[in-house]
Amino acid sequence: MTVELQHPMKAQSTPDEVARGRFVSGIRGLILNDLATDMKDAYDRRAAPAFRKEHGRDPETSREAHQALRGDPAFNIYSAMRVQAQKMVWASVADSVEREGDRLAHEAELAAAAPGSLTLDPALDVPKNVHAIDVHLMPGSYTRGADSLEAGAVYDRGLAVFSMGLMGANLDDIGLSMSQYIKQRFPDFAPQRILDTGCTVGHNTLPWKQVYPDAELIAIDAAPGPLAYASARAKMQGQDVQFRQMCADDLAFEDASFDVVWSSMFLHELSKKQRAKCLDEAFRVLRQGGLMLHMELPPNAQMGAFEGFYLDWDSYYNNEPYYKGYRDELPGDLCARAGFADGDFFEFVVPSVGIYGEQALIDAARGDRAEGVGQQTTGRLAEGVMWYGFGAWKK
Ligand SMILES: C[S@@+](CC[C@H](N)C(=O)[O-])C[C@H]1O[C@@H](n2cnc3c(N)ncnc32)[C@H](O)[C@@H]1O
Repeated sequence: MTVELQHPMKAQSTPDEVARGRFVSGIRGLILNDLATDMKDAYDRRAAPAFRKEHGRDPETSREAHQALRGDPAFNIYSAMRVQAQKMVWASVADSVEREGDRLAHEAELAAAAPGSLTLDPALDVPKNVHAIDVHLMPGSYTRGADSLEAGAVYDRGLAVFSMGLMGANLDDIGLSMSQYIKQRFPDFAPQRILDTGCTVGHNTLPWKQVYPDAELIAIDAAPGPLAYASARAKMQGQDVQFRQMCADDLAFEDASFDVVWSSMFLHELSKKQRAKCLDEAFRVLRQGGLMLHMELPPNAQMGAFEGFYLDWDSYYNNEPYYKGYRDELPGDLCARAGFADGDFFEFVVPSVGIYGEQALIDAARGDRAEGVGQQTTGRLAEGVMWYGFGAWKK
């Protein structure tokens, strides 16, 4: 199911375009549920036994599971269809974004006086990972249309098709689930200043304002266009957020100036070096008692070979060059290298609040947090998705 975005800052669709989006979401649902199940069956029945015969043991890593499956008809059909469906996601929204460009720009101008701000930095050297390849096959990547609203509109409408209704009506389920989880698990924590790094159009920025309405909320991204869209989108919803163009690995903020440094689905799009610098920067700008928190893909070390490969697939076939390298790292080690003490690191799995409801989230915040990290639905955009996160306190 494709969600119809609930906020006013969106490209309007014709009935044909709506149908096109539904069709693509439907195909993705078939691929990510049914064809994925077929591929797992093929792995168990054909690919893993053949690997065992050749090597005298089971595939042990994501790379070996990939090696075992390559060439299997179930793998071929899954991969070919998923690549085509990914291209169709962006193609299905391109016409409406193009047609609606001027109107959106006009609406954004009308909303400019609302609380909140947008600060672009034309002198910023936008890093290559943001513009040099079409990340997740999105044409023009995050810098499509320079600082116009185009990239943001494509990303917003495209994600609605891509997510098949699993990320909430305003595509903010990750932010809602994670911020509410933190509030439930750490009820005495009252952040005054929150930073979202790599915010794109602010899908998972705004929920922090709902959960901590008195906090000052600042969101940064290296790409100008998505930020311009994010700002207009937030203003039209009456949300006071400061959006600033900046690199997360080189923050223009003072030491010890934030209580929370947050990101979602961000670290896996960075090179190893950039990622380490981002965490160093997060440590630097956090106040004592502050929290660094990342929603991300779960690490390979906590998954079986097939499950690990299933997530790493994007690294090979979906223009996500850093995905596997990120998933091969251990979040605890990343935090330790940035200066956080071992005992102040934690990781957890949050049931999607939109799918499982608030009580499940409260139970998770109070229950055994180690459970569920390796579950089949963790980090996997399919029926029953759960979100993986990790964090560390600066003490
Ligand atoms: C997958 S998107 C993040 C999604 C967003 N956090 C959300 O939850 O909807 C990755 C974003 O990271 C940004 N980005 C990549 N490298 C960056 C860097 N070094 N500093 C700041 N932003 C960066 C990209 O421009 C892009 O908008």
